[in-house]
Amino acid sequence: MLIRSSTANPILPSEITSEALFQSRRDWLKTAMAVGGVAALPALSACSVEAQGVKLAGVKANPLYLVNDEKLNKADEFKNYCNFYEFGTDKSDPPVMAKSLKTRPWTIAVEGEVLKPQVFDIDALYKLAPLEERVYRFRCVEAWSMVVPWVGFSLAELIKKVEPKGNAKFVEFVTLADKSQMPGLRSSVLDWPYVEGLRMDEAMNPLTLLTVGAFGEMLAPQNGAPVRLVVPWKYGFKSGKSIVKIRFVEKEPKTAWVKSGPEEYGFYSNVNPMVDHPRWSQASERRIGEFSKRKTLMFNGYADQVASMYAGMDLKKFF
Ligand code: MTE
Repeated sequence: MLIRSSTANPILPSEITSEALFQSRRDWLKTAMAVGGVAALPALSACSVEAQGVKLAGVKANPLYLVNDEKLNKADEFKNYCNFYEFGTDKSDPPVMAKSLKTRPWTIAVEGEVLKPQVFDIDALYKLAPLEERVYRFRCVEAWSMVVPWVGFSLAELIKKVEPKGNAKFVEFVTLADKSQMPGLRSSVLDWPYVEGLRMDEAMNPLTLLTVGAFGEMLAPQNGAPVRLVVPWKYGFKSGKSIVKIRFVEKEPKTAWVKSGPEEYGFYSNVNPMVDHPRWSQASERRIGEFSKRKTLMFNGYADQVASMYAGMDLKKFF
């Protein structure tokens, strides 16, 4: 991203703030219990709550989405190495700074060029479609990657409910920007709120996951609780965290990273080993937890499912 460095260094054991993480889980649990969120969620059962996090019960693994020959990352790697600039620009900031993020009450307004605009309460959102676990590769633009078992359902399930009109060509995702909770908003590193966008066909692609959990638990605040996007064939910054609004629009949305550096971050941002970032190569990546680099795969390994959406497009121009 804008911040230089970090691509060369894999996570070190010394960077893992296990005590802080433990405390953050305790605080989060206390919050969840206090507002009754745990009891209110149909997929959760109070007795499944453990000190490690709030477990999501009744989630079935979807065998269509597996990464067979690659090892899962560890939950601690995922939770301790984060980009969430609203809580600071260092990878170790969000696990500490986001622990007080209030995720109940929480609503997502779905609006714009749709026949049935709706405001979903987060607990109602859990009931919209069966939650499933999907193992996806996740590739950050900074040339590191992880393999994560996410929990959620295809965004298409939500889109169908609001019935987009014919002129809805793009979908814009607006994430929380609350100065009282997010110290990073004092910095002008991005034009807040963090906004991301997809073309309508990308948003409808079954791979695009509206995500509420990972590693069998509700998302930790630093990973985008209570709801985020995961778009596994695109660089990680397309996966907006802590979403509050989904808007259907006619024109390509002005996204936070494109606004901040249009020559470095394109609207499409499909993982493409043949198109380098102006400041570094995208041909390879470091899997967090591994020492040597591995080759980056076209569309992050999801070409069979997504390449046809870009047939005839010059992917160097539309990077
Ligand atoms: N969403 C918001 N709201 N703010 C952010 O700073 N960072 C993005 C993305 N979503 C970001 C965000 C980037 S750069 C990455 S790589 C991923 O979140 C990181 O997600 P992870 O911490 O779950 O790996």
